[in-house]
Amino acid sequence: MRLTWDGKRSDLRGLALPIQVVEEIGVARANVGTFDEIAVDSGDGWRNRLIWGDNAHVLASLADELAGRVDLIYIDPPFDSRQDYKVRIGVGDAIAEESLAKIQSVIEDKAYRDTWGAGVESYLQMLYTRMLLLRELLSDRGSIFLHLAPNVSHLARVLMDEVFGAENFRSELIWKRTTAHSDGGQGSRQFGPVHDVIAVFSKTDHFIWHPHFTDHDPSYVASKYPYVEKDSSRRYGLWDMTGPGGAAKGNPSYEVMGVTRYWRYSEATMAQIIAEGRVVQPSPGAVPRYKRYLDETAGVPLQDVWDEISAINSQAQERLGYDTQKPEALIKRIIESSSDPGSIVLDCFVGSGTTAAVAERLGRRWIAVDIGRFAVHTTRKRLLAIQGVKPFVVANLGKYERQWWQKATTGAEVEAYLDFIIELYRAKPVRGFAHIHGTSSSTAVHVGAVDAPVTFDEVALAIEDAASGGFTGLDILGWEWEMGLHEMVQDEAKARSLALRLRRIPREVMDERAVLSGEVSFHELAHLKASWSVDKRLLTVMIEDFVLSSPDLVPDAVRDKVKGWSDYIDYWAVDFAHDGGIFLNTVQAFRTRAEPKLSLRAQHAYDANGDFTVLVKVVDIFGSDTTTSLRVAIP
Ligand SMILES: C[S@@+](CC[C@H](N)C(=O)[O-])C[C@H]1O[C@@H](n2cnc3c(N)ncnc32)[C@H](O)[C@@H]1O
Repeated sequence: MRLTWDGKRSDLRGLALPIQVVEEIGVARANVGTFDEIAVDSGDGWRNRLIWGDNAHVLASLADELAGRVDLIYIDPPFDSRQDYKVRIGVGDAIAEESLAKIQSVIEDKAYRDTWGAGVESYLQMLYTRMLLLRELLSDRGSIFLHLAPNVSHLARVLMDEVFGAENFRSELIWKRTTAHSDGGQGSRQFGPVHDVIAVFSKTDHFIWHPHFTDHDPSYVASKYPYVEKDSSRRYGLWDMTGPGGAAKGNPSYEVMGVTRYWRYSEATMAQIIAEGRVVQPSPGAVPRYKRYLDETAGVPLQDVWDEISAINSQAQERLGYDTQKPEALIKRIIESSSDPGSIVLDCFVGSGTTAAVAERLGRRWIAVDIGRFAVHTTRKRLLAIQGVKPFVVANLGKYERQWWQKATTGAEVEAYLDFIIELYRAKPVRGFAHIHGTSSSTAVHVGAVDAPVTFDEVALAIEDAASGGFTGLDILGWEWEMGLHEMVQDEAKARSLALRLRRIPREVMDERAVLSGEVSFHELAHLKASWSVDKRLLTVMIEDFVLSSPDLVPDAVRDKVKGWSDYIDYWAVDFAHDGGIFLNTVQAFRTRAEPKLSLRAQHAYDANGDFTVLVKVVDIFGSDTTTSLRVAIP
């Protein structure tokens, strides 16, 4: 039996693109490059990975290396609710609750449209494509847990039967995520929806399984374990030892404490358990019984209705402002039951990072993927807040995804790409200049390449072109920027009397629907100013200023709460000896719910003297990075 819909396709796999490591946390600098180049699976060279990108591409990219190696997959794809894509961000040093502002997140919104844009068919196609990729990654001992809402669980189950095989269906978990609603009121004509469904399939019949037990019901304990041992205070019960079926079942008959019966143990075993103090005669002449302690029983095997794990509420310690955040207790149970220490656990809709954080604490290896910038940033902070977190890398598809997009949309012709960006920027394409690609009244516009950062030389040449062409302004649009460029180019522009603006080409440019709906905005690069001082070999780095250059694009809900420039900073990190490669995150400071105040000072003691490039990276409250570099001399 198969589920079909208009346009169902099984060949829609994402493109396998190299995954680019952009930040390493807690690792030595020896290895830099893509995953292939740094041979992540050599012995204990494994790094846990947080990857920013569309999981269709990321899963396809992981397949070569990880096919058949993932023991556990938990995924919680977007349900049919627009609420999923609001995020609450903390602003400033205030105690969490009053500082939270709720904003719509454009990328999460795009993920929503991709998933639900054409209704349930597009949701099913999205799931189906991912399931086919995920099945390849699962090990023979692996399982997948798919978190669903009742509106789609029936359809997804049929798809899972197709992809994983009905014979590999293991459980349908009912998670009671909320207490009874009263919002339906008197007029409600349905039963209150209080549960989610988690469908569980294994890859084969030899899946990892560690049974879970829960405490016995108190009434069961009271009736079966009614006694308490005086000295030890251990609770115990007395259990029948007679052999059911008597002689016919081969039970031996002999005398114990003056009572002759058919017993379930041999005489030798009986002598041993009497010596261990396990046999009790409740009263003289009564039939002796076996003494069993409550603390020796495993409890009740866990059933498939989970009603004692509550959802993340506004008071929960673990709450991170993600509406769809799932409780750690739920994921802990799943990871403990279906993976071993050291197993690879994967969540490719990781949201606020629950699966990665729990896997980390339970000694599992993990891979976490999300398309949302804010999700990746939240997850990074959540992991860093874990004491003794093992090294991990932050990666993305970066320029490879953009190259692929450029080929697919504007073809090999570079001019078509330039014109496309110029038009999106609402400027007019122009020919005849080497470094100017468009104009908007008296401002010239230059567009950076998809696969290389905009460099100082490139901007200098565009400044030349613009000045000699008689323009009064120059806008540079770029995907990525050479480190420290921001400070260097301003003087150059001033000398030619040009108003220079550096603007980020947003990822949404690659989303056709975002383009058609006119939602694409090119934010100006934020300006970050840092200073340093040195005492012997101890370097102190201070953040002096951080300016968002497009304050008009800041949502009102956030602006109302901002008291000073540092309120825009959510996280910052320093690479104290940058070598031009990957950002090596040596020291970081960030706001958490428990500690919303942010220190703007970081220190590092060098082992040797010399000149070093220090890179300072700020992630603002919207999840965007801004980096600046300092050249320091250690005496
Ligand atoms: C329901 S939330 C997951 C919440 C998560 N279980 C937690 O505890 O925080 C779904 C997530 O899937 C992400 N997402 C949606 N489509 C995606 C895609 N194609 N690739 C990667 N992530 C995607 C969204 O950005 C969102 O963070």
